[in-house]
Order: sequence, then structure tokens, then C-alpha cells
Amino acid sequence: MSSPHPDIEKILIPTDQIGARVGALGREISKDYQGKVVTLIGVLKGSIVFLSDLLRAITVDCSIDLMCLSSYEGDRSSGVVRMVLDLRESIEGKDVLVVEDIVDTGLTLAYLRDNLKTRKPRSLEICTLLDKTECRQIPLQAKYVGFKVPNQFLVGYGLDYNEQYRNLPYVGVLKEERLNGPRV
Ligand code: IMP
Repeated sequence: MSSPHPDIEKILIPTDQIGARVGALGREISKDYQGKVVTLIGVLKGSIVFLSDLLRAITVDCSIDLMCLSSYEGDRSSGVVRMVLDLRESIEGKDVLVVEDIVDTGLTLAYLRDNLKTRKPRSLEICTLLDKTECRQIPLQAKYVGFKVPNQFLVGYGLDYNEQYRNLPYVGVLKEERLNGPRV
């Protein structure tokens, strides 16, 4: 394996472990949605890498749509969630599975869940690659969780810090000095 990016303190979840877990999630979801068409809603931008791998691990029929929400400024949540891009299709009567990169305070997904519920999907569940359970400010439980992770700022496999590091093929802990360093 190539050495980690110089801004990475340590690799928390290596590429092969992510691949194995995403495969297992795909099998679990395919079993649960047998005979149904699942509508995957990817939450931009962080979920793009996870969504594209998960999509290929799901064997039941599915479609995808995308939403873009924003609450983060640098390394912390502003507490105010904004919808930057809405879905293109109606989800009324559909079996919807929201695909997220990470749940932290829960504010983003709680906002999304409440917003999507008003559109009358037949079912609505959440799948997140990472879950920082100890940071929750609002009760929110994802049905499908890839990994429970500690309260550290993570990047890679779609997750960013000021739009950087999304391309790293693993999930890593960003060096403290990089977090406190000059904002790009
Ligand atoms: P929440 O609203 O606090 O649950 O935050 C959800 C969003 O915050 C995620 O979709 C990410 O975009 C971002 N986020 C939370 N924790 C991290 C992290 O450790 N690294 C990168 N982004 C994060």
C-alpha cells in the first residue's frame, strides 16, 4: 500500500476494510429490499464515493437521485442546514434509502428526514458509512451503519476538509496542525 498523505495523522479505516463493509451493506440492503425498487438518495458532496461503490454492491433494482445540503464551515457544523440542491424526481410512494457519508450531530439528517417525510415516500431509511455516535445533538439512528467512529475529524473516501482530501482511498484522521492551520 502507498504511504498515507502527509496531512494524515493515521489511517483509521483502510481501503480493503471499506470495500468489505460496503459489500456486506450491499448484501444486507439487497436482502431487505427483495422484490422492491429502492431509490437511493445521495447527499452531496460527501457521499459520492460511498454511493458509487454501494450502488454496485446492491443487486435489487434501484435508481438514484441527489441532494446537496450544507451545514459545515471548515471543521465544524454551523448548526444551520441549508438545501443547496433539491431532488429531480418525486419520491411519493417510493422506497427511499438516504445515503450519507457521516452522521455527526445528526442535524443534517434530521433536517433531511423531516423534509423527505413530507413528500410521502412509502418507506424512508438511512444508510451512513460512518457514525460518530458520541456527537449526537438530536436523536437519530441510521438503519445501516458502515463503521462507528470516534470524535475525530476524518477525511478521505469522499469526506473533505475545506474541499480537500475527498480522493483519498481510505478514511484517515487529519493532523491537528492541519485543522488549526490556515484555511484554504
Ligand atoms: P451533522 O449535521 O453534524 O450530523 O454533520 C453531517 C455532515 O457534516 C456530514 O455530511 C459531513 O459533510 C460533515 N462532517 C461531519 N463530521 C465530519 C468529519 O469528521 N469529516 C468531514 N466531514 C464531516
